[in-house]
Amino acid sequence: MTSETNMTSETNETAPWEPKIIAFLCTWCSYAGADLAGVSRFQYPPNIRIVKVPCSGRVSENMILSALKSGADGILVSGCHPGDCHFISGNMFARRRFPLLSNLLEFVGIEPGRVSFSWVSASEGEQFAEIVKTVTERVKALGPATRLIKKIDQAA
Ligand code: FES
Repeated sequence: MTSETNMTSETNETAPWEPKIIAFLCTWCSYAGADLAGVSRFQYPPNIRIVKVPCSGRVSENMILSALKSGADGILVSGCHPGDCHFISGNMFARRRFPLLSNLLEFVGIEPGRVSFSWVSASEGEQFAEIVKTVTERVKALGPATRLIKKIDQAA
């Protein structure tokens, strides 16, 4: 991810800033919804980089913080609707984790709009496209992320 995004930013020096958004999508619902959006040709911004996870409950605080530290401007975590999780309650664990993480991120200075959570089923391609549009606009309005990003020591 890092080398590809670095290469993109190096080759587009004059291009306007576009946010990089990491989307953690559960295999069974949201990833299939994204796939449906693609095959149905629903248009959505190309700002997301999808990370396929077995369940939204698998997305830990560390994964989100690591993505932000690596230069992501925004994060989307999306899983199955309540009652549809293939691991029964993984999505509910994710939903419970989300407000706690939001508080932590706010404490360290990350704006609340940088991390979003959604439910998208395999049949909701159009809804997935709409969510990506909304999340991208929200992150664009916040501007580039400046907190948590690892700085390379110039003096060394
Ligand atoms: Fe999709 Fe758990 S399998 S959220």
